[in-house]
Amino acid sequence: MKSDRITLRSWRDSDAETLYKYASDEEVGTRAGWQPHRSVEESLSIIKTVFNNPTTWAIELNETGEAIGAIGYGPSCDCSLPAWEGEPTVGYWVAKPFWGMGICTEALQMIIDYVKKNTEISSLISGHFIDNAASGRVMEKCGFIATGDICYDQTLYMGEDKPIRVLRLELQ
Ligand SMILES: CC(C)(COP(=O)(O)OP(=O)(O)OC[C@H]1O[C@@H](n2cnc3c(N)ncnc32)[C@H](O)[C@@H]1OP(=O)(O)O)[C@@H](O)C(=O)NCCC(=O)NCCS
Repeated sequence: MKSDRITLRSWRDSDAETLYKYASDEEVGTRAGWQPHRSVEESLSIIKTVFNNPTTWAIELNETGEAIGAIGYGPSCDCSLPAWEGEPTVGYWVAKPFWGMGICTEALQMIIDYVKKNTEISSLISGHFIDNAASGRVMEKCGFIATGDICYDQTLYMGEDKPIRVLRLELQ
């Protein structure tokens, strides 16, 4: 998937150093509930495991070819979101130097268009820590609506007792 500015593509082992550069930033992962990466080796391992599936993409900046973030969707069964039967969860992050440029909104809209065109999925769910309003704004700009639910997920890094605001996008 490609726009003038970004391309969503599979992660490559050769992205490991760039991934470490951006995902070791304390301010990125902690907002999303994952631990900052501690070494290039750990980043490579995440590329080979967590990112190694057909619905997780690197957000590549066309101008530089760098992977500056990740976006994807997958089964909701192992998280605390109040998902409907078979409803996937969406997740994303963008490297800090690129925040506030509309990149995540553009990437999320590309995912939504992909899901509509290529799948039978009828809705997507996601959530954000309530002190991470920027993430909620990204979803709202793409049409997600707050369900009114607040959930907690103690399996998330630094997530203990942190309220999560739940949003959903109905596609059909
Ligand atoms: C959340 C995140 C993905 C947003 O990426 P981004 O590319 O900067 O997002 P966009 O530029 O497309 O949109 C951000 C929106 O949030 C708004 N925003 C930024 N900081 C905000 C704040 N503190 N309060 C309210 N809105 C805020 C921006 O103004 C913008 O909205 P606008 O276009 O209406 O002005 C990025 O900050 C990030 O990766 N954060 C760390 C990881 C994370 O939080 N992942 C999501 C976990 S649920």
